[in-house]
Amino acid sequence: MNFSHWINHFRNNQSHRTEPDWFAPVTVDKKLSPRRFAHLIRSLQQFQLGDGGGPAYLIAYDRSEVLEGQGNIKELVDLWFKEEEEHSRLLGWALRRFGAPEIKSHWSFSLFCGLRKWLGVQFELYALLLTEIVSHQYYRLLRRHCDDVAIRGMCDLINRDEAGHIAFHRARLASEGARHDRSYGRIWEVCFRLRGLAAGTVLWMNHRSALIGMGATDRAFYRGIWRGMDRFVKGVRADLAWEKTSYALPRKSDQRSTEKEVPREVPPDLEPGIDLLSAGMCKRG
Ligand SMILES: [Fe+2]
Ligand SMILES: [Fe+2]
Repeated sequence: MNFSHWINHFRNNQSHRTEPDWFAPVTVDKKLSPRRFAHLIRSLQQFQLGDGGGPAYLIAYDRSEVLEGQGNIKELVDLWFKEEEEHSRLLGWALRRFGAPEIKSHWSFSLFCGLRKWLGVQFELYALLLTEIVSHQYYRLLRRHCDDVAIRGMCDLINRDEAGHIAFHRARLASEGARHDRSYGRIWEVCFRLRGLAAGTVLWMNHRSALIGMGATDRAFYRGIWRGMDRFVKGVRADLAWEKTSYALPRKSDQRSTEKEVPREVPPDLEPGIDLLSAGMCKRG
């Protein structure tokens, strides 16, 4: 894994961020019925708590297994969660804009944190990755259906970050796969998709009424998360193939003492910006 590439990615991503226009006139509360507007507020409150508002860090009992691992992984995890905290800040502004308070707890978030804490860091990393894939679809639907300029600006920023987080997990898993000779074959894929569907269904149970009330559909949500998982599975396999080739090259050169070690770089589709642009998730303008 190219740590400096990812550190640069997270640092560069901190600039050119246009703050949403929180003080633009609010009209969405008049376009939605009071019941639907209340569903939207509840949904934003839960996301403000869950998307960086709670313990915005790895909380598994054995997290040191990852944080004390290879290279600059701790710095990367710090930068990743800093962006999650930023999402909570943005969602807090969205709530203030609508005159709604933040919440301090919710049963689904307490359950999620409990599972992360006690089932270990490998479970936690997969749980967070799948949550990012399904949340990405939530924000895309919110961006499409919520007729509010500030909410749309917020979704653009969060979606830009989440696309980077998903690509980071892809690179991380590919690197692990190369080191431990994994293949991410059919059985892994079935388990991954089933867990993703479970994560998506829990999210949809809590947030469906908000998005349906603004015009989204069950079909659009499930089709979106399925495509997100599809892209991830294909991407991690392609990155793994590249990583394995990259690993093989230094070993061969080690055997020939006269040759220099071949430097390991970044897979072509992880060059800065390209992954996000190809996914059509970068902020416009
Ligand atoms: Fe997030
Ligand atoms: Fe994220």
